[in-house]
Amino acid sequence: MRFRYYFRGTRRFIKNRKRKFLLWLSELFLDSEYILDGTPKRNWFLKRLGMEIGENCKIDSGLWADWSRVKIGNNVLIRENCRIWGGAIIEDDVVLSAGVQLLTAGHNPSDMSVVFAPIIVHKKAWIATNAIILSGVEIGEGACVAAGSVVTKNVPPYTMVAGVPAKVVKNLKSKEDK
Ligand SMILES: CC(C)(COP(=O)(O)OP(=O)(O)OC[C@H]1O[C@@H](n2cnc3c(N)ncnc32)[C@H](O)[C@@H]1OP(=O)(O)O)[C@@H](O)C(=O)NCCC(=O)NCCS
Repeated sequence: MRFRYYFRGTRRFIKNRKRKFLLWLSELFLDSEYILDGTPKRNWFLKRLGMEIGENCKIDSGLWADWSRVKIGNNVLIRENCRIWGGAIIEDDVVLSAGVQLLTAGHNPSDMSVVFAPIIVHKKAWIATNAIILSGVEIGEGACVAAGSVVTKNVPPYTMVAGVPAKVVKNLKSKEDK
């Protein structure tokens, strides 16, 4: 009886160790700049966590996201240490530079209840380093968010916004217009 008890305990111990090892391995893969950084194998790994990822995407280390709420199109580049709280829809040919934060989920400051409004980044948009996008915001096609901006309102297509809060500072022409 005692032997079986210990045996069961050992099995549980090994199972837990295996789980912890897998978790450790996943953190190693996702955080390391050296292992699988920006490779299709990393994408395979992220897909296992529930992310939808299109073709030819390059995702660098340190991304944290609510994995199963993130949809990414084709040819998307996500540089180091981005955060996608509460998920987002990111269309084709989008670039997120290092440290960008998409804050889909947050709290209502008056009662601390959880608020959630989807963020959509339309195709060909570029969000530069350390910009923060607040919940419910849509970044228009071909738009550019300058480094360090805090975007509180929708960004029209083919415009550049900058500052805190971000304002339109430039109109950008689409390729067809040039
Ligand atoms: C987006 C970016 C490239 C814009 O450059 P640009 O087209 O040359 O823009 P300009 O310098 O003409 O700036 C236009 C206006 O926006 C302002 N502006 C530009 N970037 C700004 C910023 N990050 N925050 C606040 N204002 C900014 C400028 O002061 C200027 O204002 P003014 O017309 O009153 O003088 C640049 O702002 C940026 O964010 N660079 C960082 C790039 C990056 O993240 N690289 C990482 C590798 S991908």
